[in-house]
Amino acid sequence: MNNSKLIEQSFTILDDKNLSFFQRLKKVCDLLQQEKNSYDWVGFYFAKHSEKTLHLGPFAGEPTDHKVIPFGKGICGQVAESNKNFLVEDVNAQDNYIACSLNVKSEIVVSLFVNDQNIGQIDIDSNTANAFSKDDEALLESINKMIAQVIDKENIQILDLIE
Ligand code: SME
Repeated sequence: MNNSKLIEQSFTILDDKNLSFFQRLKKVCDLLQQEKNSYDWVGFYFAKHSEKTLHLGPFAGEPTDHKVIPFGKGICGQVAESNKNFLVEDVNAQDNYIACSLNVKSEIVVSLFVNDQNIGQIDIDSNTANAFSKDDEALLESINKMIAQVIDKENIQILDLIE
């Protein structure tokens, strides 16, 4: 499925008010993981700014032990502080990296902004080296923008949803 079709399908999922917000995000994770060969693990982390921690939300792929990640730690924690997307061609070349699975070779993390505040991120791991490009970044930015609109419009309180 091409990226515009993926954006269209994600929109339909995110617009389905019969599902809870996290049910919708889980369906978006499943869609991306199924449709993109190199997306082996797809998940969301949400920031608890008071504690400077990221908390795992919906995901598709193998369960991870890393349900809470301090700001600054790993690729995800660095993005929580930098507010910049991070495309990692080779995770083994990174000093500050948290391995969720030994099979992972590359990773992309794209921040989720709601009204200019970095409230979390989408994190994708690939078992293929150098799997991510600017096209993936653009796709994930578009999806995160749609998610941000849902959070804003439906006044979703993420802190009530995370552990
Ligand atoms: N690799 C991430 C940790 C999250 S797992 O990939 C699910 C990191 O270095 O922050």
